[in-house]
Amino acid sequence: MMKKFFHVEDIGNLNKAIKDAKEVKANRYAYQNLGKNKTLLMIFFNNSLRTRLSTQKAAMNLGMNVIVLDVNAGAWKLETERGVIMDGDKSEHLLEAIPVMSCYCDIIAVRSFAGLENREFDYAETIVNQFVKYSGKPVVAMETATVHPLQAFADLITIEEHKQTARPKVVLTWAPHCRALPQAVPNSFAEWMNAADVDFVITHPEGYELDPRFVGEARVEYDQRKALEGADFVYAKNWSCPGVKNLSDYGRILSKDMSWTIDAEHMSWTNNGRFMHCLPVRRGLIVTDDVIEGERSLVIPEAANREISAQVVLKRVLEALK
Ligand code: CP
Repeated sequence: MMKKFFHVEDIGNLNKAIKDAKEVKANRYAYQNLGKNKTLLMIFFNNSLRTRLSTQKAAMNLGMNVIVLDVNAGAWKLETERGVIMDGDKSEHLLEAIPVMSCYCDIIAVRSFAGLENREFDYAETIVNQFVKYSGKPVVAMETATVHPLQAFADLITIEEHKQTARPKVVLTWAPHCRALPQAVPNSFAEWMNAADVDFVITHPEGYELDPRFVGEARVEYDQRKALEGADFVYAKNWSCPGVKNLSDYGRILSKDMSWTIDAEHMSWTNNGRFMHCLPVRRGLIVTDDVIEGERSLVIPEAANREISAQVVLKRVLEALK
């Protein structure tokens, strides 16, 4: 009975989920009646291209009605913390807004990124957990402070579709960026790869250690070249300091080392590996033009599979509503 979707365990048996994804992809309009007269409310506290379009498309494939709310564009600005005197620019409190919004829908999907200022606040998932607690509706994560499961599920589907060996080597590599980015994508990617049948390696400069609950049993290799050797899939992503080794560094940029940018030489160390990234990506920092445009790049199939991962998840949530 799927009431929320944040972590890999929420989807149950992973092989069954991958099988369901194949079925959905083969016939994405087979369950048009399932979502009839059901409404998905998609709430965005942050920008989006893929998540917005793919999740809406998935809901429409299932016959659902969809309402999209951009909190920062047209809605009242929402206060998210209790105990504050609301004499600033925020006119409404989340604790009233959530039950009101839940009156108009059957499923709520939320995007709310990490603020990267207070690790405890972010890693407690303080904002989205209020939706879980006060909405009374199933809640689907469209990237929260610490996880992006719809992306990780789409990434896994993509790896399953393109793998040439039963147990491929998958490498998550940090790459440089000009802005401090959250850890949600690498956290979820690590969580889902640990649950999948792959040889999983994480590589990053010292100080970028991900939270142990996401690293799990993965091998961590600080030498990027060693990590990439023999890789079947290279998953590049930037993330800011997770504050695991030094809490005061949480959310900071510790390195802009351009030797970590994925270029043709990096890919030459792999087993003719496929390049992956969740997008949006900054060319020249994370990856070179030739690699992302090359025939070994999977960034577009990954994005296409976002519709499939969202549809499998929404289908299961709808089935649990009955
Ligand atoms: N990968 C991803 O979530 O893309 P958007 O931020 O555009 O939704």
